[in-house]
Amino acid sequence: MCGVAEREGSVVRSVLAWYETTARDLPWRRPDATPWGILVSEVMLQQTPVARVLGPWSVWLQRWPTPGSLAAESSGAAVAAWGRLGYPRRALRLHQAAVAIVERHGGEVPGTYEELLALPGIGDYTAAAVASFGFGARHVVVDTNVRRVVARVSAGVADLPPSAASRRLAESYLPQDADAPRWAVASMELGALVCTARSPRCEACPISDLCAWHAAGHPALDVPVRTTQSWHGTDRQCRGALLGVVRETAAPIPRESLVSGWADATQAERCLAALVGEGLLYGDETISLYG
Ligand code: ADE
Repeated sequence: MCGVAEREGSVVRSVLAWYETTARDLPWRRPDATPWGILVSEVMLQQTPVARVLGPWSVWLQRWPTPGSLAAESSGAAVAAWGRLGYPRRALRLHQAAVAIVERHGGEVPGTYEELLALPGIGDYTAAAVASFGFGARHVVVDTNVRRVVARVSAGVADLPPSAASRRLAESYLPQDADAPRWAVASMELGALVCTARSPRCEACPISDLCAWHAAGHPALDVPVRTTQSWHGTDRQCRGALLGVVRETAAPIPRESLVSGWADATQAERCLAALVGEGLLYGDETISLYG
């Protein structure tokens, strides 16, 4: 029987070979992608699918090809350019990171996990991803896709929550050598394209013969998968609508007219107060982006 490490080595080799022939050609994965382009992509991709990120990523990089070029503009410009990507606090976080990169690192994205993690708004996942994809460092990079892949192949369960245990599983696959960054992106890609949450394509999977979940007959999760909240009428929809109006209006907008444009005025007031509190919008009687 294979030893554990040998089995994990087989998983890694098979996934890397699959990635060579199957991976999507995404601009932030190309050899000419800069660490800054990779950082921007990772922040955009955290809560938004690849197809919706491609356009805004190119526009962003054309306008702000370096951290210094973004840091030289207002945070409001970053929020305005975030457009319809959703979760616009990410635009503020990128702007804050750009300012810190200029102040602490002379405008060059730093190359170590520790320096990246010390930047404002950059968490464990993004620091590991940028160190790995931008600088070839060896790090476990665990997003929801990778967590699902290792939960299935190793633990035989459909998914695992973020925890020390799922992290240890992911760590057990990290190759010792220069394959580590490729493994990180390849395992992510397997989760995104084949080992998906709802309709896994095990017939197309390069490691189905090594997968504990496949062998067990695809047992479902014990707890029902969280149903997504409908979008209509949510605070997220309201916040997006308020930000959209301010973004598209050149001059500051009277608070009254902004709030009265939304059917539920109490909800609009609450969302507006939150947007101002978070630094995404500015003002009291009249509302604008930070400029
Ligand atoms: N390639 C590199 N990082 C990625 C990510 N977070 N999502 C999809 N593709 C990627």
